[in-house]
Amino acid sequence: TRLERANNVADLRLMARRRLPRPIFDYIDGGADDEVSLRRNATAFADYELVPDVLNDVSTIRTETRIFGQPARWPLMLSPTGLTRMFHGHAEHAVARAAARHGLLYSLSTMGTTRLEDLAQAFAGPKVFQIYIFKDRGLTAEFVARCRAAGFHGLALTVDTPVAGNRERDRVSGLSLPPKLTLRSLLSFALHPSWSLPALTGSRFDLANVSHKVDALAAGPMSLFDYIGGQFDRSVGWRDVEWLAREWNGPLAIKGVMTPADARRAIDSGATGVMISNHGGRQLDGAPAPVDQIEAVRDAVGDAPDVICDGGIRRGSDVVKALALGATACSIGRPYLYGLAAGGEPGVDRLLTLLHEEFRRTLTLAGINDIDVLSRRHVRHRSVAVS
Ligand code: FNR
Repeated sequence: TRLERANNVADLRLMARRRLPRPIFDYIDGGADDEVSLRRNATAFADYELVPDVLNDVSTIRTETRIFGQPARWPLMLSPTGLTRMFHGHAEHAVARAAARHGLLYSLSTMGTTRLEDLAQAFAGPKVFQIYIFKDRGLTAEFVARCRAAGFHGLALTVDTPVAGNRERDRVSGLSLPPKLTLRSLLSFALHPSWSLPALTGSRFDLANVSHKVDALAAGPMSLFDYIGGQFDRSVGWRDVEWLAREWNGPLAIKGVMTPADARRAIDSGATGVMISNHGGRQLDGAPAPVDQIEAVRDAVGDAPDVICDGGIRRGSDVVKALALGATACSIGRPYLYGLAAGGEPGVDRLLTLLHEEFRRTLTLAGINDIDVLSRRHVRHRSVAVS
C-alpha cells in the first residue's frame, strides 16, 4: 500500500504535507518564534553516540516497562495534542486504537476533539488525560472527577502554557484566533478537497471536553476558544500542584518541567513523574532540548519517579539514547500526527511499527538484550555535532 512506502517519520511527514491544506500542516509542523527549540529538540539526539557492546546474546530482547503505573510493550507513549480532528476525521479514536494495538499509552488533551467519556468507552487501553489548572479550579476539579469516573489511569498536568506561544506560521497562514484567512490559504483549502469537504459537514474544531460549558446556542467554535482561552491562569504555582495531587491521588506527571530543581519540586509536591518537555518547541523558544536535561533530572529525582523525555523523537534509536541517559520512556507528538494525517489509523499504525522496528534493531545492534541493562556507558555526548 501507499503507507508501506513510508520508511521513516520523515516520509510520513511529507505524505501529511501533501494531504493537508498548508495552514493545517503548518499548525502541526510549526513552533514558536524562530523555531530554534523545535529544530534543536530533534538534532540534539544526533549529538549523542551509541556505544555498543558486542558478542552479547541478542536472540531475544526484553522491552516491556511501566509508565504511569501501566504496562507498555516498549518505552514509548503518545503525547496529548489538541484539535486532532482537524488532521483526520477519525481523530482521537484512530490514534488511541492504534496505540492500544501496539501496547502503548495514549494521552488525550483537554483541547482534544473527542469527549473523554467517549474515548474511554471505545478504548480499553491505558490512557492518560492532559489537564490544566484553570482559573476556575472547579473546572479542573470537574475534569479530575470525570477522569476518575471514566477510568483514566493517570493525569499529565501541562505547566508550560501560562500564555500561548508565538507561532508565526499560524499567523501567516491565518490559523490564529480569530482566523484571518488569506487568499493563499483559501486556495490551499480549495486544492485539498478531500480534507476540506468533510470539514464543512462535521465540526473539526469542537473542543468536546469543554463545549458543555458554553451556551449551545451561542457556541460557534470561536466562543468556545474564547471561553477556554480566558481560563488560562498565569498565577498557577506549586501549591496548586499539591492541591491537584491530593484531589487526584493517582499517577500524576508534570509536563513541561525542564530543570532538576523543578523536577525535585514536582515530586515533593506529590507528582509521581515528570515529562521533560518544551511543548515540542511551541512555547518558550530557546528552551533546552529535553534529551539534554535527562541525566540531571534523573539524578535529582532518584530511581522511582517516571522521567519521560517528550520532544524531538524521530527515530527508534532516539528512544534508546534517552533510556541510556536515564529516562523511563519517551513520548511523541508530531510523529503520530504525521501518520494520522497521512493515512488515518493505518497511518498511525505504520508510524508505530516503524519506530518499534527501529528501536528493536538499534538495541540488537548495540548488543542490549534487556532495556534494564541500558546505562550511561552506552551513550557519549559529542561536543561537536555530527550532522
Ligand atoms: C501539542 N502539544 C500539546 N501539549 C499539551 O500539553 N496540550 C495540548 O493540547 C497540546 N497540543 C498540541 C498540538 C500539536 C499540533 C502539537 C504538535 C503538539 C505538545 C505535545 O504534547 C508534545 O509535548 C510535543 O508534540 C512533543 O514534541 P514532538 O514529539 O512533536 O517533537
